[in-house]
Amino acid sequence: MPDVSAFIDSLKQLGADGQQAIGGASSLETLEQARIEFLGDARGRLKAAQKELGAVPREGKPQAGREFNAVKTQLEHLHAERRAALEAASRPASMQRDLTLPARARWVGAKHPVTLVIEEICAIFRELGFTVAQGPEAETDWYNFLALNFPADHPAMDAHDTLYLEGGGLLRTHTSPVQVRTLQRVAPPVRVLIPGTVYRRDCFDPSHAPAFAQIEGLAVDDDVSFADLKATLTHFAKRFFGSSRTRFRPSFFPFTEPSAEMDIECRLCGGAGCSACKGTGWMEILGSGMVHPNVLRAAGIDAERYTGWAFGMGPARIAMQRYKLPDIRLLYDSDVRFLEQIAR
Ligand code: DAH
Repeated sequence: MPDVSAFIDSLKQLGADGQQAIGGASSLETLEQARIEFLGDARGRLKAAQKELGAVPREGKPQAGREFNAVKTQLEHLHAERRAALEAASRPASMQRDLTLPARARWVGAKHPVTLVIEEICAIFRELGFTVAQGPEAETDWYNFLALNFPADHPAMDAHDTLYLEGGGLLRTHTSPVQVRTLQRVAPPVRVLIPGTVYRRDCFDPSHAPAFAQIEGLAVDDDVSFADLKATLTHFAKRFFGSSRTRFRPSFFPFTEPSAEMDIECRLCGGAGCSACKGTGWMEILGSGMVHPNVLRAAGIDAERYTGWAFGMGPARIAMQRYKLPDIRLLYDSDVRFLEQIAR
């Protein structure tokens, strides 16, 4: 008559051996051998243990029986699991998935509306002979303000709500400093488009954000005139918006003289006035003007010989008009339900 604790020890050993043989089987054949050895009806080790269980003294039977059942269930489960895995691996690759499952939708990324607008604007100006250039986002006072003819301590610097960097420098408040950097690098004739991110401490409201995209344009050559500026920007608006009306209003920027802002008739309300255009029926989309001779001089260009015109536009505002968006913040919220409506 076997001793109970010796019997339980032998069951534990049987379980450990079985786990190793079944769990470690590397092919359906070795798995089948392991099954016969441990779970087989005729000569299986569990079967033999079951017979011994019959001879265990009564008081030890409940405990021995529980241990026996635990080992048996564990080995049976392990066998089923191992078998499924080996069968799946032996199927051709094309059948390894359950072909009856419903198809999963493919999650494809898309370009942001502001990126789409920037790309389209660049394409229109490329056709006009402009190349695309870039400049640093961390700038010096000189490039961002002084070289652009802002008098030192001019209130315009406050109006720009500049973010200053620790240890000197600032985050550019506009893409205009790249005008100077470009003119230092290449001699006229110059025609460049400069897309980039700019930073201001503006609060977040329906038409302002603290970091936003701008596109700067610059043309410097012999005999470049305000008529060129107006014709080019009007052509751009026609290409980009179709038939929408535009208007130029006199304005002021330290780096241009004369200066003008271009408005587009608000496409959300057709000019009647709405919240997007603050009831005016027009939305300003760019500032522009003839490059101030002081700016040309700061960049080392002969201001007696060359003239130039420039503009700076806000692609987010242009996206608002293009896609008829009532609130600019839609473009910064990253709400996929909104972005999907515009994605291409
Ligand atoms: N830098 C101006 C701004 O951020 C925009 C601007 C106006 C750019 C007139 C220009 C320009 O090049 O000629 O408000």
